[in-house]
Amino acid sequence: NMREWDAAGWQVLPGLATSKLGTRVLLLDEVDSTNRYLKERAGQLPHGTVCCTDYQNAGRGRLGRTWTAPRAAALALSVLFREEGPAAQLPLLCGIAVANALEALTGASFAIKWPNDIVCSGRKVCGILCESRPVQGGGLAVVAGIGVNLLQDGAWFAEAGLPFGGSVAMLTEKILSPWETAAVVLNRLEPLWERCRAEGFGALEPAYTARCISLGRQVRALSPAGEVRLEGTAVGIGPDGSLLIDDGRQVQAVAAGETSVRGFDGYI
Ligand code: BTN
Repeated sequence: NMREWDAAGWQVLPGLATSKLGTRVLLLDEVDSTNRYLKERAGQLPHGTVCCTDYQNAGRGRLGRTWTAPRAAALALSVLFREEGPAAQLPLLCGIAVANALEALTGASFAIKWPNDIVCSGRKVCGILCESRPVQGGGLAVVAGIGVNLLQDGAWFAEAGLPFGGSVAMLTEKILSPWETAAVVLNRLEPLWERCRAEGFGALEPAYTARCISLGRQVRALSPAGEVRLEGTAVGIGPDGSLLIDDGRQVQAVAAGETSVRGFDGYI
């Protein structure tokens, strides 16, 4: 992974065309977790600061899980949001941005499994974890973390015990550079964030729904501990990004922060 610097000494992502996200970029050889790195320094760094690394030795996943990838085989990208905005819907916006970016870069189709796993040919190629913390002087800092599997092969996922995992190379035969992928994701994410701030998630809901493969399927909503909370047909996305499930008697909403869904016969 090549590194470039601007005149002020900040690293730059080739192809970045944003006005706020990525105006400060930190590319690290190794870090525990890019999310944790930005969260710890959130009070000192400006809105839009980006942290990427070649290798995370303690990558964090949703619902307390871990996230691993071999060195230089995946993109680990975190973005710091310090301006007020639709923090609760940020994971869904990241999902739209990543799916759009990967389609543009590979020509293959990418879908979103609610709330924000990115899926290609039935396998998860990207996971998203947004974390927030209060900062001194008031306000909330939100870190959006995006992990995209780029180069791993089927044997790696089997050995890692990830039967539903896949990489962009494995599924599309395209070799993407992590930093260029990061730039394209940020180029898509910035306008989605701005539009959602201005108009609310309702304006983006059609774009999300169009990509969401969970809809129309029989799903089980699981608690972080794996208990079944609700079973039924996923029928829609609520105005706040929740998943609407029809259990045959009534339609109930489950919130993204505390739920994962599984299909009746497998991952999707
Ligand atoms: C998931 O469980 O599906 C979410 C995985 C999120 C992984 C990314 S990689 C960059 C950022 N830093 C982390 O420690 N996690 C996120």
